[in-house]
Amino acid sequence: MNIEIRDLCHIYPNGVEALRGISLSIGTGEQVALIGQNGAGKTTLVKHLNGLLRPTRGEVWIGDWETRQFSVSRLAARVGYVFQNPDEQLFCKTVEEEVAFGPKNLGFDPVQTAAMVEDALMLTGLWDKRGVNPYDLSPTGRKMTALASILSMDTPIIILDEPTTGQDAATTARIAQIIARLRKRGKTVITITHDIDFCAENFARVIALLQGQVLLDGPAREVLGQEELLAQTYVEPPQLTRLGKRLELPETILNQDEFLRAYRKVTTH
Ligand SMILES: Nc1ncnc2c1ncn2[C@@H]1O[C@H](COP(=O)(O)OP(=O)(O)OP(=O)(O)O)[C@@H](O)[C@H]1O
Ligand SMILES: [Mg+2]
Repeated sequence: MNIEIRDLCHIYPNGVEALRGISLSIGTGEQVALIGQNGAGKTTLVKHLNGLLRPTRGEVWIGDWETRQFSVSRLAARVGYVFQNPDEQLFCKTVEEEVAFGPKNLGFDPVQTAAMVEDALMLTGLWDKRGVNPYDLSPTGRKMTALASILSMDTPIIILDEPTTGQDAATTARIAQIIARLRKRGKTVITITHDIDFCAENFARVIALLQGQVLLDGPAREVLGQEELLAQTYVEPPQLTRLGKRLELPETILNQDEFLRAYRKVTTH
């Protein structure tokens, strides 16, 4: 399902102009990372995709739906949004109820709901915790519950707002696996992140925002190679990308394997 954003502007009631003319097309099954300094407008932008915010000017299309014509609850069938702070999202007494709420609400029958809930609980590693109250879980457990409660809805579009912030390496690796799984299923995933290594390793396309506008948009290698431009929005390319540049390696490096390959090539000649 395509996402089409046309000249989107958003002014908050207090007069803050958070988005200033954003136009983007995101195709079915694309995996996009959204980066940029604090206050750049990342969260404001994604909240327009599921109708939590409405454009002050411009349009947002989710497939053939213009978001202004549809309620948040209708849009929930197309766009799943995992909040940055799970405490804004969780309200049920057990993990299982929480994860079942969405599919039940979308009208899936009990058999389908049970299968989707089980799948989401397995993917997030919460199967053994399904009877626990989310508020008795660790912050990581709550974050994974929030993620599972969106995965279970099986929406074509999934938005993750800073999924890895504050997470250990094992949890970050699990989130990367879940994103890879969603890729195989043809889901569109938009992830806001300040974790630039995570961005380089998991996303083909990167969009950088600066003060409510698109600063850069393109393949990860192109965007993360633009050190000077990224600096305007206080994003540093990954350590290895910068090291590769300092070593004057011919291509932009995104991960360890690429670094080793390029480094060996240079040192063996
Ligand atoms: N509810 C609100 N009312 C008024 N201004 C807001 C509101 N939410 C955000 N803003 C302002 O809008 C601008 C964009 O904020 P937004 O939260 O979208 O940025 P962000 O890129 O998600 O930042 P962060 O990386 O810190 O999460 C900022 O200037 C912010 O202070
Ligand atoms: Mg934000």
